[in-house]
Amino acid sequence: MAAEWTHHVSYSPSLIAVNVRQDDATAENINESKEFGVNLAAEDQNIICSITGQYTGKRVDKIALLKKMGIVFYESKKIKVPMITGAAMNAECKLIKQEEQLGDHIMFIGEVVEISADERIKPLIYQNGKYWKLGDAIAKPAPETLDKINELANIHRKF
Ligand SMILES: Cc1cc2nc3c(=O)[nH]c(=O)nc-3n(C[C@H](O)[C@H](O)[C@H](O)COP(=O)(O)O)c2cc1C
Repeated sequence: MAAEWTHHVSYSPSLIAVNVRQDDATAENINESKEFGVNLAAEDQNIICSITGQYTGKRVDKIALLKKMGIVFYESKKIKVPMITGAAMNAECKLIKQEEQLGDHIMFIGEVVEISADERIKPLIYQNGKYWKLGDAIAKPAPETLDKINELANIHRKF
């Protein structure tokens, strides 16, 4: 599935949380297998997000469909989940906790047991229902603004 509500929530151990609607095939799959893979889509992989976000695995074999669309999968090393080639980051996660009392989504938290990333691959951005490319880095504030911030931090220091 496409899952924008996916976050890195701890460095050590390295933990990733994914928030999945209770009725989705993905929630059932994670419940059953106790593992999940996170593939951070590259900017040329929006079609993967559109397909996996539009159809449910309960009714459509999305992996077969994606393969027919030319998407290449590779076998994960530590879990039994097909992973997407060409993503900006791939993380294999083992479920350590799930929180069902947060509303209409279940928060699954997985420990990262295997990870690979290619910093040359730019991640896809999703905002306001549209896909975007990562833009220019925003310059640091001017030195006089930084001096002013420091001055104010000193004035408002608590100890
Ligand atoms: C870009 C995008 C991001 C999405 N993010 C989430 C999300 O974080 N959590 C979620 O429950 N559904 C999310 N969805 C919707 C699911 O991907 C969609 O319901 C999907 O069909 C579920 O598939 P499944 O039933 O095979 O698990 C998103 C959809 C799109 C297009």
